[in-house]
Amino acid sequence: MKFFIDTADLDQIREAQALGILDGVTTNPSLMAKAGIRGAADVKAHYRRICDAVDGDVSAEVIATDCEGMIREGEALAALSDQIAVKVPLIKDGVKAIAHLAQQGIKTNCTLVFSAGQALLAAKAGASYVSPFIGRLDDISADGLQLIEEIRLIYDNCGYPTEILAASIRHPMHIVESAQLGADAITAPLHAILALLKHPLTDMGLKKFLSDYQKADD
Ligand code: G3P
Repeated sequence: MKFFIDTADLDQIREAQALGILDGVTTNPSLMAKAGIRGAADVKAHYRRICDAVDGDVSAEVIATDCEGMIREGEALAALSDQIAVKVPLIKDGVKAIAHLAQQGIKTNCTLVFSAGQALLAAKAGASYVSPFIGRLDDISADGLQLIEEIRLIYDNCGYPTEILAASIRHPMHIVESAQLGADAITAPLHAILALLKHPLTDMGLKKFLSDYQKADD
């Protein structure tokens, strides 16, 4: 399963990259704004910096909501680097834009997906990735992980190559359960990725090993 970090913060991206487990980065307009990146020129320059900082795919989201605008922005983003996957919202014009970009061999990430029907359309249009937002579903008392299970079944039944990228991850168990359900990738904030490291028995065990080693050395 691929691990992406869901941020535009370069320090966090570099920290995750240094772990040696990172397959790329996902961003969105809110994350870019949170990192203080504003305006088309700065946004493009920042995508270049992110691509330089990691080896894998970098999802870069279009702002336009009409098909022509999304295609124009998508082509410009894709021209920045082979690493770019153009992130397109699951709306009618978005589906058309994904189909067009896919036909040109441009990687796409279909975002803001909240239902199995939407995921089916994304795959049919030829999206490289589909991003079901599991945390935002949980936030409204729905079941985000159940959506991952539904999409996995549909994609396996139909043989779609679109990769399921579990997004809007809130905590480490979202990552573990997405893996159990057959997600191809997750994108998570750094804190959720680092939380996978934690277990009190690991800390206690290491402390004991080191103190025993010290005693044997005395
Ligand atoms: O990048 C898309 C998604 O992961 C956003 O997550 O936390 O804003 O619901 P969140």
